[in-house]
Amino acid sequence: MASVIVVGTQWGDEGKGKIVDFLAEQADTIVRFQGGNNAGHTVVVKDKKVILHLIPSGILHPNKKCIIGNGVVIDPRDLLNEIESLKSRDCLKNNSRLLISEGAHLVMPYHKKIDIARENLKDGKKIGTTGRGIGPTYEDKVGRIGIKMIDLLDKEVFKEKLGYNLKEKNFYLVHYLKEKGVEFEEIYNEYIELGIKIKEYVANTSLIINEDIKNGKNILFEGAQGSLLDVDHGTYPFVTSSNTVAAEACIGSGIGPTKIDKVIGISKAYTTRVGEGPFPAELNNELGNSLRERGEEYGATTGRPRRCGWFDATMVKHAIRISGISGLVITKLDVLSGLDKIKICTGYDCKGEMYSEFPSSLKTLEACRPIYEEMDGWSEDLNEIREYGKLPDNARRYIDRIEKLLDTEITIISLGTRRDQTIILKNPFTTDNRTDTM
Ligand code: GDP
Ligand code: IMO
Ligand code: MG
Repeated sequence: MASVIVVGTQWGDEGKGKIVDFLAEQADTIVRFQGGNNAGHTVVVKDKKVILHLIPSGILHPNKKCIIGNGVVIDPRDLLNEIESLKSRDCLKNNSRLLISEGAHLVMPYHKKIDIARENLKDGKKIGTTGRGIGPTYEDKVGRIGIKMIDLLDKEVFKEKLGYNLKEKNFYLVHYLKEKGVEFEEIYNEYIELGIKIKEYVANTSLIINEDIKNGKNILFEGAQGSLLDVDHGTYPFVTSSNTVAAEACIGSGIGPTKIDKVIGISKAYTTRVGEGPFPAELNNELGNSLRERGEEYGATTGRPRRCGWFDATMVKHAIRISGISGLVITKLDVLSGLDKIKICTGYDCKGEMYSEFPSSLKTLEACRPIYEEMDGWSEDLNEIREYGKLPDNARRYIDRIEKLLDTEITIISLGTRRDQTIILKNPFTTDNRTDTM
């Protein structure tokens, strides 16, 4: 038995969905612990593509238990749409394998309105949020005025909390954001209806996860976003509003740190970012555009083009440290095929001062120029390779160099969107070293 946490090590979209789906084969329970439907996790099974926003990426395995933990913020409308869409594709036949924490906070219509209106107001200082109301929902949670899933199941409590919130929210919407206010009746009626539909999934999920651990089950914790979008450790304020690091898996699902066995980090073989904020290794040129096209780098949630750049070892080293990552997964190595030269960012030059660690100051980071190491590329197509030894020499050199720079073992290499396009070198749920695929 093992409890394994999977987190992104860059700015999101590292391929967490694909890897969680791949590892879920060996897990009994898969848990999302933070973020909301700002996340877009793509899973491809037998050429069928599913994008998950709130539901864990283990759901496509017919018998796995999937849990949305207390640390997630839930837009109930979108949750039901996601459930319906899975059902229409025959991916969720048994409702009892999806469980939603009583403690998860609700994204309300005014959160979304505030998120979007604030971004429109910020002339030149936009964060580039997904517009899903994530920031305002977490603000209310910390501000102790949020509404939880359990509140939705009690009409009296919900009525009181909604009424209290609307006084403040409508004042802010109308007088500061110059937007139209929202109607109590409309929200109340809609949400009560949504609550009736969601009720069967709601449970004390901390209790269930702890029981599963006690009973020797394999648990997989699925992070959303990436380490550099963490509200404490990321490129603040160009971050999301939750903690995305591994420690949040405990808080956001109601288990203790003594229950965790392994932390796996997911890194794309290059770097991407959606939204605003510094990106030292960004390629603002033809090469960046070509990476976007080859890697199909368009947001899974908003469809926005992702900014693309070289692999940044300095940044991933920071992510490894803050999450205590012991094994790394490299995804999308196949996308780099055909490049004559490949670069790795190994540090920064900020006005003549060298940085080998990720700087905390945004101002410094914005002024940083990347220091690169250059390696020879390879021309072979990697999509059908299933053994490490069969990778082109230069692809192996690239992987070895990353491993050395980061001083962290690379345990899985992903060479395509499908489950079978994966080389597993070390299985996180066992201590086996294997070179075959699963
Ligand atoms: P997530 O948010 O971390 O789950 O990642 P996304 O799903 O937003 O974005 C990753 C994209 O890359 C998805 O379209 C995946 O299907 C795709 N992908 C994942 N792994 C690989 C890989 O090894 N090679 C290729 N070519 N695509 C991959
Ligand atoms: P997954 O789980 C990439 C980014 C947004 C924006 C910032 C804040 O698919 O990796 P928010 O809506 O969270 O307030 O936006 O965070 N962002 C993501 N970028 N992948 C994601 O999730 C993201 N979730 C949020 O683009 O820059
Ligand atoms: Mg994504």
